[in-house]
Parts: sequence; structure tokens; C-alpha cells
Amino acid sequence: MNADGELEKLVEWVEGVRKRVHEIAGEWQDEEGSLIMILHAIQDEIGYIPRGVANELAKATGISLARIYEVITFYTYFRLTPPGNHEIHVCMGTACYLRGAESIQAKLLQQIDLMKAAGGAKDDFQVDCVRCIGCCGLSPAVVMDGKTYGRLNPEDSPEILKQKPGV
Ligand code: FES
Repeated sequence: MNADGELEKLVEWVEGVRKRVHEIAGEWQDEEGSLIMILHAIQDEIGYIPRGVANELAKATGISLARIYEVITFYTYFRLTPPGNHEIHVCMGTACYLRGAESIQAKLLQQIDLMKAAGGAKDDFQVDCVRCIGCCGLSPAVVMDGKTYGRLNPEDSPEILKQKPGV
């Protein structure tokens, strides 16, 4: 595809996103707490809340951009950047935190950096901290792409990452 074709495709995609933001805003406009529901719906569809989408949302709802960013940045669930191919949620709830969740997170990040440096990580990993994931008996626990790993120690990190293809 030539550059004009690429540009046309991009413009079409942006128009589609703009239209969809207005549709979602319209669906939720009369609901209490609608901004959070709208942001959830947008992130479910796009994977994060790009700046342009936040601007469009401000236009569609009349809610100030400052307020929209206030909500996005308050809740750790919302993302301002695209997610990685693999999502890792490190539980930082009390039980996990007391049993070394910080060390596990540090080891995961270190291992991901090492893999990238060695060219061995073909996929991106998104590492986020979350509150209790509901399996405190397995603390400290991590969820990667929906699968829970429990009773971890930092040395388990490489093994968790190896569970994914392409690593
Ligand atoms: S505190 Fe981590 S699962 Fe509950």
C-alpha cells in the first residue's frame, strides 16, 4: 500500500474512533457516574485512552478535559498508553505486599529488561500493580493474561514469563 493509501486508512480509522466516542458518550449521558462508564467502554474497545480520544470525549460530553484526566489518572485501571501484548498484574494488596510483592515486581521488571536487551522478548509485557485480586491464600500472587500464579518468590519470575509463547 502506498503512502496515500496508508493516510486514507488512518483518516478513516480516526473518523471511526471519533464517531464511536460520540456514540458511547450518547449511550451513557443520562447515567450517574457516566464518565467512568464511558471511559471503561472506550478502554474496552481501544485498549487505552489516547489523548485525541480524551479531547473528543470532552467535546462530546461537555466535561472538561481536566476533569477527564483527573478521573483517568486517579484510577489505576485506566491507561494513557497502549497495553503490552501480555498483561501482568502484580497484586499489591496487604497479604501480597507483606509477603514480598514488591520484590516479585522488581524481579519481573528486571527479567523483562534482560530479555529485551538479549533480543529474546518478542512481545511486550505490561506490568501493573493492582489491589487484592481475591486469592490472598495464594499470596503473593500475580496474574498474567488471566492466569493466576500464587505463592511466588522472586526467583519464580523467569518461569512465569516463559509461560508465554515468543519468549
Ligand atoms: S492481597 Fe493479594 S490476593 Fe489478596
